[in-house]
Amino acid sequence: MTAATEGQDDGDDAPVRHLLDVDDLDADELTALLDAAAAFGRSRDPPPSRALVGRSVVLLFEQPSTRTRVSFERAVTDLGGDTVFMGPGETQLSRGEPLRDTARCLAGYTDAIVARVEDHESLTELATYADVPVVNALSDRAHPCQTLADLLTVREVAGDLDGATAAWVGDGNNVARSFALGCAATGVDLTVATPPEHGLDDATLDRAAALGDAPTVTHDPETAVAGADVVYTDAWVSMNHSDRAERLATFETGGFQVDASLLPADAAFMHCLPAHRGAEVTDAVVESDRSVVWRQAENRRHAQTALLERLLAADARR
Ligand code: CP
Ligand code: NVA
Repeated sequence: MTAATEGQDDGDDAPVRHLLDVDDLDADELTALLDAAAAFGRSRDPPPSRALVGRSVVLLFEQPSTRTRVSFERAVTDLGGDTVFMGPGETQLSRGEPLRDTARCLAGYTDAIVARVEDHESLTELATYADVPVVNALSDRAHPCQTLADLLTVREVAGDLDGATAAWVGDGNNVARSFALGCAATGVDLTVATPPEHGLDDATLDRAAALGDAPTVTHDPETAVAGADVVYTDAWVSMNHSDRAERLATFETGGFQVDASLLPADAAFMHCLPAHRGAEVTDAVVESDRSVVWRQAENRRHAQTALLERLLAADARR
């Protein structure tokens, strides 16, 4: 892996690698990781790699989680390691201990920090002070581990990433930002349909353009989904949002719900979950034979197994 955010250097030549967003991986690393993840996904056996034997990963979560927590715990176990879960309110952070102190202590006990944080800057601080890999398990800004599973799922649906077409319908949120980077890096032709006030920010569009093609931006869901291999949506109100009523009204009146009439007959439906039936998607679409959401959720496990194997193999100093 190259080009990752660099943490404190303890004197070894190799910098510690972190995954704070998708563009911490270069295109070759991303492809290799997805190939390895696909191989894990095809096999019903535990992965042959025991890269984490004798190693421990701490899951430091400031917010609730179902999929991310369990898929990481399973990935670590399958690689022979063990996990420590620290949930919301369970550490001295809740009593005001500085994050940088927490980072340095956790790095002394464990071999990687997987963190779900309310503020992306917390990840940057963890990565600055911890001399072990830090993995973003969701922040207000990004969800790169979700994107790894998403790309794996798009590849399963379309056969190839390069030239596949994807539509994002809804909020230009953390999941959308990382997905836009992942699509740009792998040649997926992405169109993003959001209300004007909830679109992707310019910095994300610029970063996507630096990786490949920036997504096409529209405010019309019908335009976005036309010809798409996959149609992807997420919550209208994310965990970091406080403007719930305004958001629900904006997205509903703007026609951003993915229902049976919006989803093209030959398109697959994707959602990172949890889904809010009756809001961004209908129950009928989630439960339809066009829905790949369960496969997408399972792919979290395979993608993160491949990610941890590589990240900790690269951090072979310990
Ligand atoms: N998709 C996702 O990250 O789900 P959780 O919030 O359940 O981890
Ligand atoms: N955008 C959602 C994703 C949850 C997995 C949120 O941040 O709450």
